[in-house]
Amino acid sequence: MSIRTLRVVAKLPAAKPNQALVIGLRKTGKNIEVVSANPVAGLPSLAELEKLGAKPAFEAQTKVLANGQVVLILGLGDGELEDDELRELAGTASRALSEHDEIVFNFPNLGRSAVLAVAEGFCLGRPTRSPYKSSTRNPKASSISIVTKAKITAADFEQILTVSAAVADIRALVNMPPNELYPQTLASKVKSLAKGSNLSVEIWDEAKLRSEGCAGILSVGQGSIRPPRLVKLSYRPKGAKKHLALVGKGITFDSGGLTIKPGLGMLGMKYDMTGAATVGLAAIAIAKLGLPVRVTAYLCLAENLPSGSATRPSDVIRFRNGTTVEITNTDAEGRLVLADGLVLASETRPDLIVDVATLTGAVRVALGVRTAGLMGTPDGVGTLRQAADVTGEKLWPMPMPKELRSKLDSDVADLVNSKLGDPAGSMLVGAHFLSEFVGIRKADGKKLAWAHLDIAGSANNDGSAYGYTPKGSTGVMLRTLVEVAKSL
Ligand code: BES
Ligand code: MN
Ligand code: ZN
Repeated sequence: MSIRTLRVVAKLPAAKPNQALVIGLRKTGKNIEVVSANPVAGLPSLAELEKLGAKPAFEAQTKVLANGQVVLILGLGDGELEDDELRELAGTASRALSEHDEIVFNFPNLGRSAVLAVAEGFCLGRPTRSPYKSSTRNPKASSISIVTKAKITAADFEQILTVSAAVADIRALVNMPPNELYPQTLASKVKSLAKGSNLSVEIWDEAKLRSEGCAGILSVGQGSIRPPRLVKLSYRPKGAKKHLALVGKGITFDSGGLTIKPGLGMLGMKYDMTGAATVGLAAIAIAKLGLPVRVTAYLCLAENLPSGSATRPSDVIRFRNGTTVEITNTDAEGRLVLADGLVLASETRPDLIVDVATLTGAVRVALGVRTAGLMGTPDGVGTLRQAADVTGEKLWPMPMPKELRSKLDSDVADLVNSKLGDPAGSMLVGAHFLSEFVGIRKADGKKLAWAHLDIAGSANNDGSAYGYTPKGSTGVMLRTLVEVAKSL
């Protein structure tokens, strides 16, 4: 069941069967105290709670009964709670209480932005059931009531539902197995998700890709019996003054191609279409929210497989903008499909281009698996940093050192896609390659504003769920892209 009700209440509602409460346990100096907006009748004493193992450590969870009602006591750590911490705590609560129909969030002094963070964390963290498991039960937790004096409108909650549903849609797509999700099916799924919003959808097949000169997508896709696609989503609200272009890497499975990955390295590579799912659903969410910004999203879809028709290391391809690339490593395929999207996007001279890609294993080495690498032009990087500050999503700026550009020099073509056996700075070299396909702004002859997000770490959570992040696909950066659209 999907989420039914998000609402605010001025005081604690009367207990109901299958309703659970959430309160906090905080550490102030040496003292531990229970914190709640309204007192909970029948709650065990602090000494009893401590005997039951309740701890104030951030996100510690203890369930107790108060007059027969389930109460989740969440550790709040010490100090004031930031909105993003509340978002995480609410996510934890929605998982911990997923057997209950209704959750009442009874935290003290929640102001407007805190309430919105709680509602959002609840929606983002709410567990879903894998449609491929025969035996698991559907999670409940379909309603949340938040105790607060703040004024929240139905429209505020509507926005949260739209955004969190888009995140859930990304996760569901990415978690699909690659025998079911391949370029054609991904394209048609995105098309049906776009229905009912004010977006136009174009799906380019191989013939169209050829006539449009999309050499990268065609080359990466030619080894698979499942042909490549490009999906173009356009949202053109009346009176829009700014234009945001989004480009997503959509490799529905990355085996590496003829430069094949070892078995372990191939595991998990169904997630290599996360960038495309993210930009597609971001465009859909922006359209559903009716933001006054023109958005064009390019989803670059292909399956990277080895076969008699696959691209060989040494093949040279010519891109739509005339640039030629010698493919020295068929496993550096993401940059090839993105190059087509970046060239197409650049031709429309948008105010900002953002590409999202599970591009390199190197971002995992550098930043771990919860932080995206951010590269691009100074203005593009600045816009993304500001947006991520608002949403609480984790990204970190990475440099594009000039001397690394020469690693892309080719003896026979304009560029190589990657030098085999030279992993130094591979995330940054990837950004250099992409940057070659970002167009020039007419006004000052400089590069168009551009940001590249390498989400190869943060797109997937191999560990167990935490905060509002589930196991498997995380859906990161959708909220930040929506915020970027707001900020333009
Ligand atoms: N999809 C992978 C990125 C990846 C690699 C994600 C490992 C998670 C773990 C990408 O297409 C890839 O294969 N990247 C290569 C780039 C290299 C060939 C320049 C990599 O990172 O090893
Ligand atoms: Mn690859
Ligand atoms: Zn890949």
